[in-house]
Amino acid sequence: MPKMIYGTAWKKEETTRLVQEALSFGFKAIDTACQPKHYREDLVGIALQKSFLNGLKREDVFIQTKFTPINGQDTNDMPYLASDDIITQIEKSFIKSKENLKLDFIDSYLIHSPFSPLEDFLNVYKTMEEYVEVGQVGQIGISNCYDINMLSYLYDKAKIKPKVLQNRFYKDSFYDKDIREFCKNKNISYQSFWSLSANPNILSSNELLVLSKKYNKTLAQIFYKFLNEIDITPLNGTTSKIHMKEDLDILDFNLEIKEINSILNLL
Ligand SMILES: NC(=O)c1ccc[n+]([C@@H]2O[C@H](COP(=O)([O-])OP(=O)(O)OC[C@H]3O[C@@H](n4cnc5c(N)ncnc54)[C@H](OP(=O)(O)O)[C@@H]3O)[C@@H](O)[C@H]2O)c1
Repeated sequence: MPKMIYGTAWKKEETTRLVQEALSFGFKAIDTACQPKHYREDLVGIALQKSFLNGLKREDVFIQTKFTPINGQDTNDMPYLASDDIITQIEKSFIKSKENLKLDFIDSYLIHSPFSPLEDFLNVYKTMEEYVEVGQVGQIGISNCYDINMLSYLYDKAKIKPKVLQNRFYKDSFYDKDIREFCKNKNISYQSFWSLSANPNILSSNELLVLSKKYNKTLAQIFYKFLNEIDITPLNGTTSKIHMKEDLDILDFNLEIKEINSILNLL
């Protein structure tokens, strides 16, 4: 899985242009969701088609989308009916995602958040396991799961183990320290969102300023590099070409252990 993922939430009709730009600058992974309230998954699909016509190969891009339960949807605009049973909801949402993205294979498919009743949640996960078994999905996972007991319960119940946890990376959850340790032990990739927007205190810290000067990189570059060094794959929601370019340009240096630790102390 690529080390940084371009996020497509809230980009509205600019989604096609921005996804094309992100791919042309070298992003190799795209995150979206079948949740019209926040994502134009259909426009991600158009951007992919255009990029394929321009020479991008399907196997060179990692596509991740999500099933959003009803409590995360705008009930006037969603891929299933409120009256549908839960299996019909996930089936309709998955069909819609493939239609929107114009793909018959999704690299990574997540449940947008745990939901109740638990039985419905597990049935959705089981249906997603079947998509993996028939080769329509590469891997499955969960987002917005901040309860380690819930994550560990899902892990134990799963026939096909979750491979991704996508969570908000912020102080209020203690930066998911225990959860990240669990993920490391279970080979679950931890993806962060709000990485920059929730952490202005870290981005303006003296520690980052010093490293920014030393490596001649921006504060965001240093923070993204740090996240990669501690096995976090950040989502990146920039709309700026300059930031797209800069944020990918972090492969030519490594932070020293003591520098990583100095940032870890800020978490
Ligand atoms: N699973 C979920 O529930 C969930 C929730 C939220 C988000 N997400 C995913 O995460 C993606 C990213 O969203 P986010 O909230 O985490 O955004 P973010 O990447 O933390 O923040 C993006 C904001 O930071 C600014 N920024 C300043 N310098 C930047 C730099 N060097 N690089 C990147 N951004 C910079 C951007 O402005 P400029 O545009 O000017 O660069 C933009 O306003 C979303 O698109 C979505 O795919 C998932």
